[in-house]
Amino acid sequence: MRTSTIRCFSAAALLVGLLAPFTSAAPVAPTILTPGGYRVSTNVQQVPEGGRIAHVGNDIHLIAANGTVVHVASNVKPAATKVKAAASPEETGWVTYAYWLNTGSSPISSFTTTWTVPAVPATWHGQTLFLFNSIEPSTGDAIMQPVLQYGPSAAGGGEYWAVATWYLYGSNVFFTNPIQVSVGQTLNGIVSLVGQSGSTYNYDSQFTNIGGTALTVDGGEQLTWATETLEAYSVTAASDYPTGSTVFSGINLALTSGTPSVSWSHVDDTADGLSTSIGVNGATNAQITIHY
Ligand SMILES: *[C@@H]1O[C@H](CO)[C@@H](O)[C@H](O)[C@H]1NC(C)=O
Repeated sequence: MRTSTIRCFSAAALLVGLLAPFTSAAPVAPTILTPGGYRVSTNVQQVPEGGRIAHVGNDIHLIAANGTVVHVASNVKPAATKVKAAASPEETGWVTYAYWLNTGSSPISSFTTTWTVPAVPATWHGQTLFLFNSIEPSTGDAIMQPVLQYGPSAAGGGEYWAVATWYLYGSNVFFTNPIQVSVGQTLNGIVSLVGQSGSTYNYDSQFTNIGGTALTVDGGEQLTWATETLEAYSVTAASDYPTGSTVFSGINLALTSGTPSVSWSHVDDTADGLSTSIGVNGATNAQITIHY
């Protein structure tokens, strides 16, 4: 495996977070790993079960199931850099992925994907793997994603697979309580449009077959860029990945006006032998495979 920017970046971020060695400079805030890379930990919030998120002006409210606002992220700016990194996926850990951008006037109303929890990797070096379907706004300053995770992240985790639903907007990150899943278990990740008011959109994302993973975001930007992604951090050997492949199947994209015409593109990490192939193209029962 080549000398990886991912590895250097994560090691540096951990050191910055743990040691904060500078005395004259402003204090360096601890960072923590999310599917959007390393983020300032005070901006990362777990969503209480049954809770939801609402954009309110330039703020983001985290609302518990009983209606109490339990956290306010004030005056949130869109990210200076995009959550996605189409030009150099290594920078934020997007190793290989497929994507489709909805350029039509009608929004995506639902995006489903089914996959199976892979075998655990042969080696453990503290690596983190994320596998997910996701949607971002065209600006790339947010992402909504039902995520399968192996290894540690802000949500917890370790030498096992777990699922959580994540929403990132600007520098702020929200996730549901991670739930451990078994090798071979079937996952059904979905993002659905559940409401619209003017130019703001309400979405729900979850693993439909796993309770406690639902996350609703009200008043967000329209989500247009759909992906099927492998993201990784602190991988030091090919054996830190599962062997073989992960097949994303049952990929269905619907618009509020019907079925779009979809052709998936993909980005590979050929240097490390990681790639994405489009087995069945289109918007209905598409199939996309991540090869390790
Ligand atoms: C509402 O839920 C939050 C989060 O679970 C909790 O901290 C708070 O005490 C609850 N408030 C009431 C009034 O029940």
